[in-house]
Amino acid sequence: MPGNTFGHTFRVTTFGESHGPAVGVVIDGCPPHLALSEADIQPELDRRRPGQSNVTTARQETDRVEILSGVFEGYTTGTPICLLVRNEDVRSRDYSDIKDLFRPGHADYTYLAKYGRRDYRGGGRASARETVGRVAAGAVARKLLAREGISVIAYTCQVGDIVMAPMEGVTFEQVESNPVRCPDKAAAARMEELILKVRSEQDSIGSAVELVARGVPAGLGEPVFDKLKADLAKALMSLPAVVGFEYGSGFRAVTMRGTEHNDAFVMKGDRVGTRTNRHGGMLGGISSGEPLVMRVAIKPTSSIPKPQETIDVYGRPQTIRTTGRHDPCLAPRFVPIGEAMLALVLADHLLRWNAIGRAGVERVVHGSIVKAQGKGCGSQV
Ligand SMILES: Cc1cc2nc3c(=O)[nH]c(=O)nc-3n(C[C@H](O)[C@H](O)[C@H](O)COP(=O)(O)O)c2cc1C
Repeated sequence: MPGNTFGHTFRVTTFGESHGPAVGVVIDGCPPHLALSEADIQPELDRRRPGQSNVTTARQETDRVEILSGVFEGYTTGTPICLLVRNEDVRSRDYSDIKDLFRPGHADYTYLAKYGRRDYRGGGRASARETVGRVAAGAVARKLLAREGISVIAYTCQVGDIVMAPMEGVTFEQVESNPVRCPDKAAAARMEELILKVRSEQDSIGSAVELVARGVPAGLGEPVFDKLKADLAKALMSLPAVVGFEYGSGFRAVTMRGTEHNDAFVMKGDRVGTRTNRHGGMLGGISSGEPLVMRVAIKPTSSIPKPQETIDVYGRPQTIRTTGRHDPCLAPRFVPIGEAMLALVLADHLLRWNAIGRAGVERVVHGSIVKAQGKGCGSQV
């Protein structure tokens, strides 16, 4: 089946190609009575768009969002919300000389192998331009989450071999204080230097982004195939250029012992918590009430000006040199996109949980359950 739709209850379908007339998204399942205007969505698109700094591509796309449906007199109506962004800075000629070539690291060959036809202008549907729709939908999801006290944040935690120092409680202002979107200022400066260096060498560099969700109550996630961790992995792995996902201790767990890895349960005020968070806020695929913490690995941008070996659609050896405008490191622009996918997964699971009625344990005092949550569907609307 075609895979352009994501989510069960908060369901998004993205559409459009990078060099077509427009890209966008249809959100089905957003509850009514949510105050929503373009002004809620535009700031997230502004964070995603190219041309923001010296470490991103110089392409200029204003990315103005238009709400085509699902909102009346400033509130969602419960009907499908269509969000549209028209493509503006389209330079199809940048791609004409490579239309018969398979760009290394791109989806050119695999799209042709699958469909027998492809839009060669800038990657078509495989292009990161498709994420405009996800970011727009993510802004709506964030509004739903905010009503429940849930927030999401992401930041660049590694570029090449430069790793940020461990930090708790990272703020939006810290992330946005530099072009790399790394809250550790000293590391950010070195990351920026490295990105500019690889760009001057006509190359690109890999990176990693950490994502955190705070205020997530214990109880989000569906056994067994729709575990929260499974849906988060799918959501983030579905983004272009992502080559790895881990949560909590992740791949570091491989070398640890149970005695080091287990997080002790403790009371935190009137709620159950854990002293450490190596479980990344999820146990059995269900949120534990601790912050959700995950990381993605992002490959170096495939399009680089340096000549590379490839073949054309006729199987003849060729040399390719990408002349379009590209990001030398993808993490800075990935940050708002990753946040959007995290928000979409959480909004979907929140509504799914509401749909069956929240009947979980809210508090445990002196070892006995004293109160069930029992929040109904749309109780906050
Ligand atoms: C925000 C963002 C911007 C991107 N920009 C570029 C780019 O300018 N040039 C490029 O070669 N790849 C870029 N990519 C990655 C490609 O879209 C991606 O590598 C390609 O479609 C192949 O998909 P895959 O890496 O998931 O296999 C970008 C990815 C993201 C998340």
